Amino acid sequence: MTRKPIIAANWKMHHDHFTAIQFAQKFSYLLDKEDYERVDIAICPPFTDLRSMQTTLEADRIPVALGAQNCYWEKQGAFTGEISPTMLVKLKVSYVIVGHSERREIFGETDEMVNRKVRSVLEHQMTPIVCVGETLEEREAGATQGKVLGQVAEAFAGVKSAAVAPCVVAYEPIWAIGTGRNATPEDAQETIALIRGAVAEAAGAEAAEAVRIQYGGSVKPGNIAELMAQPDIDGALVGGASLDPEDFARVVRFGA
Ligand code: 13P
Repeated sequence: MTRKPIIAANWKMHHDHFTAIQFAQKFSYLLDKEDYERVDIAICPPFTDLRSMQTTLEADRIPVALGAQNCYWEKQGAFTGEISPTMLVKLKVSYVIVGHSERREIFGETDEMVNRKVRSVLEHQMTPIVCVGETLEEREAGATQGKVLGQVAEAFAGVKSAAVAPCVVAYEPIWAIGTGRNATPEDAQETIALIRGAVAEAAGAEAAEAVRIQYGGSVKPGNIAELMAQPDIDGALVGGASLDPEDFARVVRFGA
């Protein structure tokens, strides 16, 4: 099976709704039809940019999918400060990043919360981008495999195989995020192949073959090609290098 690559921008807490529109317009001029056909592209801006991004992408017919960086699992209610999946669906959001290490580490998200979010996102016909990854300490202690495979199993607990297949997983070693120190393509491949194995255990071989697994952590125009050359790496979740339209366009073109 050939899996279509997916390159996603995680803007984190960068770009307001004005600069987001400027980005979308500039970015769209940098790519052509073949780029859009070859790669699925998603941009995950802050919540406050979603509406202006949606109208810009629609009005200018830019074939880039919209993603959110988080959401709550309930549809509505007394949950001050949270955003519901139904609100995201109304804004034509297709992807939701779930369990990013910054949410886990800074905001205390647990595997159980990640699982609830994954199930809620799927129930609302959106695609979760499920983030997993180990800290430097865990890596040095030889605990990478246990940590990452545990996160995958918990994230998909209770999810039907057919629902797992279209999901995206992002392997983001925490020590590589925002540090300029990316995992070697071989190391990333090794862990991502193990993740595919964990998906097979959780949801069967067919789902594991279909699921797209991204690498994230200091992805740049200069290192994307060697990462994408690995058999199990199906794309990238890009932080810093996704903030500038030219850099991100080059990542989408695998460095060209
Ligand atoms: P950087 O690309 O800035 O290292 O961030 C990676 C990341 O956390 C994407 O979700």
